[in-house]
Amino acid sequence: RLESKCLVPDDLVLDEMSSWDRTAIGLVPTMGGLHQGHLSLMQRARQENSTVIVSIFVNPLQFSPNEDYNKYPRTLELDMQLCEQAGVDLIFAPTPEEMGVLQKSIQESKVTQVIPPSAMITGLCGGSRLGHFQGVATIVTKLFNLVQPDRAYFGQKDGQQLAIIRQLVADLNFPVEIVACPTLREASGLAFSSRNQYLSASEKQQAAVLYRGLQQAKAAFNAGVRNSEELIAAVRQEVAMVTNALVEYIELVEPNTLMSLVTVKEEGMLAIAARLGSTRLIDNILLSDR
Ligand code: PAJ
Repeated sequence: RLESKCLVPDDLVLDEMSSWDRTAIGLVPTMGGLHQGHLSLMQRARQENSTVIVSIFVNPLQFSPNEDYNKYPRTLELDMQLCEQAGVDLIFAPTPEEMGVLQKSIQESKVTQVIPPSAMITGLCGGSRLGHFQGVATIVTKLFNLVQPDRAYFGQKDGQQLAIIRQLVADLNFPVEIVACPTLREASGLAFSSRNQYLSASEKQQAAVLYRGLQQAKAAFNAGVRNSEELIAAVRQEVAMVTNALVEYIELVEPNTLMSLVTVKEEGMLAIAARLGSTRLIDNILLSDR
């Protein structure tokens, strides 16, 4: 005992260790088709919690009838291996029946739905994906109630989703800490996404233009440009170089409220959605002086 006492680390290390949470549950909600972006969320959760749970559920409620619900990548075997390698303790992969979700069209009139503030779901992706964020908010509510995590990990990649979930947690008093994680990218700058699997080799190369566009705006921001028109134009100009990339929107919003910004005061989220062939891709960057 005396000997082991001599091995007690110095105060600094002790301080740090006492701040570690050894009892917390960290949840990483996903729809599977796992990639390095998802893995980075798991790694972060692994560092901060004693138990890490990954949910894998392709949520029918967040897909419109014309979207890719049926062809969305379902790679459960591989996903389970990746989770195991990442040190995940438990995978929660329910069927739609087990999750108690009906077909989206029936769901709406038969069961309770969680509807985020309209101001947060009409802009950006809400413009083309009607009911999408209602489906996300409803499923995340169900996941939080089932798993009861202390922390839940979400990617900045889906910046609108992140803001909506923060609002959901605040408005409905969920005892969950939302941890935002940075966007992980391929060497080309293309953000990892399950939907990148749909891209042909040449489309994948072309898709890197989204981030290049955002980087052009970042350079302008760093040079002192603060107004949205100029920042958006910088993205648009770069993306126009790839004629195959069809822009759905480029918007500058306040990252928490998602209100449209005319100029960046403290922080802005510059977000883009574009199609390459039939694949819809999104990306964003945060612009701030901090
Ligand atoms: P999914 O698209 O599988 O993403 C799961 C989580 O991984 C989200 O929080 C997303 O923002 C994050 N993520 C995706 N790509 C990333 C990247 N390149 N870098 C960092 N994080 C990334 O988002 C969903 O699933 C669903 O809407 C869900 C929240 C699970 C509800 O159904």
